[in-house]
Amino acid sequence: MKKMAKRGELIERPAYRAIRDYAAQLGYKDLIYLNIGEPDFSTPPNIVEAAKKAMDEGFTHYTEERGLGELRETLALKFGEEKKVKIGKDEILVTNGSAEALFITIMSLVDPGDEVILLSPYYPPYLSCVRMASGKPVIVSTDRKTLTPQPETIQKLVNEKTKVIIVNSPCNPTGMVYGKDIIKAIVDIAVDHDFYIISDEVYDRFVYDDEKVWSPSIFDPALERTIIINSFSKTYAMTGWRIGYLIGNKNIIANILKIKGSVNVCASSISQKAALEALKNSDNHVKKMLEEYAKRRKLVLDRLSKIPGFNCPTPKGAFYVFPDISSFERDSLKFTMYLLKEAHVVVSPGKAFGLEGEGHIRISYASSMENLKMAMDRIAETVKNYQT
Ligand SMILES: Cc1ncc(COP(=O)(O)O)c(C=O)c1O
Repeated sequence: MKKMAKRGELIERPAYRAIRDYAAQLGYKDLIYLNIGEPDFSTPPNIVEAAKKAMDEGFTHYTEERGLGELRETLALKFGEEKKVKIGKDEILVTNGSAEALFITIMSLVDPGDEVILLSPYYPPYLSCVRMASGKPVIVSTDRKTLTPQPETIQKLVNEKTKVIIVNSPCNPTGMVYGKDIIKAIVDIAVDHDFYIISDEVYDRFVYDDEKVWSPSIFDPALERTIIINSFSKTYAMTGWRIGYLIGNKNIIANILKIKGSVNVCASSISQKAALEALKNSDNHVKKMLEEYAKRRKLVLDRLSKIPGFNCPTPKGAFYVFPDISSFERDSLKFTMYLLKEAHVVVSPGKAFGLEGEGHIRISYASSMENLKMAMDRIAETVKNYQT
């Protein structure tokens, strides 16, 4: 047989998935998984009911490629209220999760050889998508102490081949929320050097301590160069429904739509009806989830601060903490394996999110309070015996 395309070889299976598979094979009965990047809550019942109703009523056919008009209108209204950026329904494209939004946006923007700036540590599919488009990833390390990007460092790496920068605030894996000055500086650099900004805002509803999320769109209100990616997955605990969206100017959306039409016709009709219900009637559920995440975050940060050797800047968003573990061990995979085998706690090694994540682990607190308490007890006990 002839070999399959080399494209597949460019994509590495993310280490956090490999760890999960490995952990499952070990057969331990008491494993606690703190490596999961999805809400542990069930989808709110009113959303599930809306999906059942759609099916009962035979709403089981293709929809408009762009997504249901009513859903896009509601999204446009909500976005306008939240971000104070006025948009219409034709500036929205409904997708199969933000994962698809990311892929089709990168495929639409990046030509072979174009450079794409990734702020590392980053969500691994950014790298795979850039590689699939034959673009050149340009890795900009965030400041090791604050885990936030430094605009001066970005500026130095920009050149005429720079096509896109991907910004993700609140950030997976660090949980950091980038301040107004950083976001504004990134937009200024993009304007000066005429490149696009993909802003992945899937965690924008999960912020703590009255922190504010600054979207690049606030500084680019005509959406001249900003494309926003968002999703129902995290906000409404709907990961399995595969429903997300992107926001951009009409011209950009029309171009991305061409690619989307070839990849899949439209997002699931049933999930779109569920998403509409989520937008209209689920703020109370989101508030409750946020309150619970806030309690868990406090617990994890309090407990980590009492374990000598963990150094954890306070993350203000998402549901991750990203402690520096380099005083125990620089090799994050080795440390992850130690916690797995000795504490029976599964975390993600920092280097799964780019080499700049080395010396850290990612702990997800999208897990019950009971699990988190038990995991923290076990980690505190086992690291006492850690030997390099
Ligand atoms: C930063 C970030 N972007 C995008 C996604 C993809 O989410 P979905 O495709 O479920 O919307 C994830 C999932 O973990 C994520 O963490």
